[in-house]
Amino acid sequence: MYNVAITGTGVFTPTARITNDELVAAFNSYADLWNAENAAAIASGTVEAKPHSSSDFILAASGIENRYVLDKEGVLDPARMYPRFTPRSDDQPGFMAEIGVDAAQKALSVAGVDAADVDLVICAASNMERAYPAIAVEIQQLLGAGGFAFDMNVACSSATFGIQTAADMIRSGSIRRALVINPEICSAHLEWRDRDCHFIFGDVATATLLERDEDLNVPHFKVLSTRCATQFSNNIRNNNGYLRRTIDAMEDRRDMQFMQNGRKVFKEVLPLVSKHIADHLADEGVAATDLRRLWLHQANKTMNDYIGKKVLGRTPAPDEQPNILQDYANTSSAGSIIAFSKHSNDLEPGDKGLICSFGAGYSVGSVIVERA
Ligand code: COA
Repeated sequence: MYNVAITGTGVFTPTARITNDELVAAFNSYADLWNAENAAAIASGTVEAKPHSSSDFILAASGIENRYVLDKEGVLDPARMYPRFTPRSDDQPGFMAEIGVDAAQKALSVAGVDAADVDLVICAASNMERAYPAIAVEIQQLLGAGGFAFDMNVACSSATFGIQTAADMIRSGSIRRALVINPEICSAHLEWRDRDCHFIFGDVATATLLERDEDLNVPHFKVLSTRCATQFSNNIRNNNGYLRRTIDAMEDRRDMQFMQNGRKVFKEVLPLVSKHIADHLADEGVAATDLRRLWLHQANKTMNDYIGKKVLGRTPAPDEQPNILQDYANTSSAGSIIAFSKHSNDLEPGDKGLICSFGAGYSVGSVIVERA
């Protein structure tokens, strides 16, 4: 068995940014328009008026202040309320491939590795823009990588599940190098017209380069252990899929976008994740006091505060559990990798840390790393 290292990470961040105030202004205009169009039904009591959203609520409930998106105009247009992309021909790079390649090239450049020396590309994300050919195969070709490529989807846990999959192949010797890429165009599956969740998501792409930990002469993180777990739940669900036509569900239906029962998710996922991390650490003989840093999934600040406190047994210092959700919002599988990428260079040799993502499925994945 070979040892595994993370030698590079990369983050693609869109240029367009939406503040809570901009988002709320657009939502409130949409709600006013909708209420005016449905004034008679609202007056007769058959439908309820749409209430306004509020920046104060969003910050207090989630900790989110901004989000990046690939298209700001469509999202903020009260008559549209979702992104508008220019259609591309089959011969042009796809939307996910384009941002995935950007993040992957950054990760390769950090490690000083040539794309041709990569022999596995995994595109691990919450949504795929088409059924096939796999986005990962397109990314493999655009990068000039070798070997093979495939897509996988474990929602918000896709990155850590992808890392475990790649690490297992490196451990067994079937591959030497892998790129796990997470292009998350969350703006396209978020229901921007739903006040309960319209503030949650943003767009981004991340990439993690994993290599055989032999004679590496670049700074890196040893992958000490990986662990994944799942438990079925309908509390985070999106029913969009290839059977949509067969069930005569082509209309604008709420359940064809992201749906969640936020309160239940809170209540059920927190104990699941806290126990998962505690068990993983205990089985690997790593004490919580040995952890220099936690890079957690970036969905909600209160959730992260709770998990950090449970794992460390005390309130973590900001530098022990860095959050990026205030700037990026929830970027699904990419969140913990953004936190890792932006907040890991200062760790000293021997420092240990834990990457953990969790979400729909339910799913939870953790990676224990050590700075070499
Ligand atoms: N503006 C103003 N008020 C709002 C609002 C908004 N945008 N959205 C909801 N509210 C209101 C609700 O209607 C409710 O009012 P009520 O008490 O009169 O019924 C109140 O605020 C509380 O709403 P609730 O949905 O219970 O808020 P919350 O504290 O649970 O926070 C989330 C909502 C989504 C931030 C939170 O549940 C969450 O983060 N859950 C887990 C998310 C997660 O990890 N998801 C994984 C996806 S990958």
